Amino acid sequence: MISGSIENASTVLAVALKACAILMLSTRMASAADAMDPEQIMLGRELFFDKNLSADRSIACSSCHMESRAFSDGKRVSPGASGHSGTRNAPSLRGVGAYRQLFWDGRADTLEGQAVFPLYSPIEMGLSGEAELLSRVRENRGYVREFQRLAGTESATPTAAFVVQALAAYERSLVPRTTPLDDYLAGNEVALSPEAKSGLALFRGRAGCSTCHRLDDGDASLTDNQFHESSVGVRAAGKRFPALALQLTRMSLKQRLDLIPRDSRVAALGRFVVTLEPKDMAFFRTPSLREAKLTAPYMHDGSIRSLQEAVDVELYYRGLQQGYPVNFSLAERRDIRLFIESATPAVSSNERLTSQRSATFIVSTRHE
Ligand code: HEC
Ligand code: HEC
Repeated sequence: MISGSIENASTVLAVALKACAILMLSTRMASAADAMDPEQIMLGRELFFDKNLSADRSIACSSCHMESRAFSDGKRVSPGASGHSGTRNAPSLRGVGAYRQLFWDGRADTLEGQAVFPLYSPIEMGLSGEAELLSRVRENRGYVREFQRLAGTESATPTAAFVVQALAAYERSLVPRTTPLDDYLAGNEVALSPEAKSGLALFRGRAGCSTCHRLDDGDASLTDNQFHESSVGVRAAGKRFPALALQLTRMSLKQRLDLIPRDSRVAALGRFVVTLEPKDMAFFRTPSLREAKLTAPYMHDGSIRSLQEAVDVELYYRGLQQGYPVNFSLAERRDIRLFIESATPAVSSNERLTSQRSATFIVSTRHE
């Protein structure tokens, strides 16, 4: 009798646990499926390439994040709709879904929260606010129909949340592409040239690059998702540091963030502007070096023109910073550059075709 009720109780518990597990699993699967909903991604892609989402209809997200350049733009800093330039270099969006904090200084936590910065920034797309965004989206019958289909009801009208969710879904779909480096790590010995292999050994070994540009078993992201000091930031802010820092401590977070794209001296202070922590002065998030061959110029301010120069600057500065040797030969510095280039896929004509298709996708549904 007693043993019967214990057995019973444990059966009930087992059933409950199992139900819980199934529920948890299905919620997890639902959210993973949401994140990869192909129709939402396609809609996000249309929005990403749509110049009508800027004040004077002259630029889209894709103007500064060009597919052919791993979603960067080849400029030192990017001119926005008003013609004014910002203060930071447009980063690659390949693999952006893996970053825990966004922007060079981590001032946004999610892709959904990030998107409102360029849309409403007078220096980027320059929309006056949510009302203008929604009127631009609703003027396109194709969007309205797509939103209604996704919402499952014909009376739905697009909301701002819907827009940023679709943009974020598209950005999360920009997963890292397979590169010669990945083939090599998977066991294909000949995927890297002997020079790139020697560069890899230096990168992981004597040069100490992989402490921040992570390259471990199972993690070839080439970033640690953390913030570190930047030689470029330190040099740019220079002697003005103390006075400027003091001024910033007297401002609200919003006032400080508004200054980042407008004032390059403020932008050079990096993560400090977000946290006001002295230890974050001139700190920037480690950029992934995946596809870096396509993302010149380099560093948060785009001040370094070539990948070789960026490697040379980092070798010297990180060496001094971390107490590593800084005496690398010309051939060694070249090998490290060749290794970094192996983390970019070779461009095929197929990929060029895909990028043309994506840019013209919306035309068929617009203003009919
Ligand atoms: C005028 C050029 C410009 C336009 C237009 C633009 N961006 Fe950007 N984007 C940038 C720059 C510059 C940065 C880096 C700013 C910083 O870190 O302070 C950036 C950063 C980002 C990041 C953060 C990436 C990372 O590695 O943390 C994301 C995501 C992003 N943009 C998405 C978008 C989306 C979505 C749109 C359209 C709604 C858009 N951008 C429009 C220039 C632009
Ligand atoms: C302590 C962490 C750390 C180490 C070690 C480190 N880096 Fe970096 N790296 C960074 C950060 C942070 C940036 C961004 C600096 C900026 O934008 O001002 C960066 C930027 C770069 C860039 C420019 C990328 C871009 O997209 O703009 C290259 C190339 C680079 N590093 C290569 C190297 C090499 C090669 C080594 C080894 C000699 C190395 N790094 C070691 C943190 C590190």
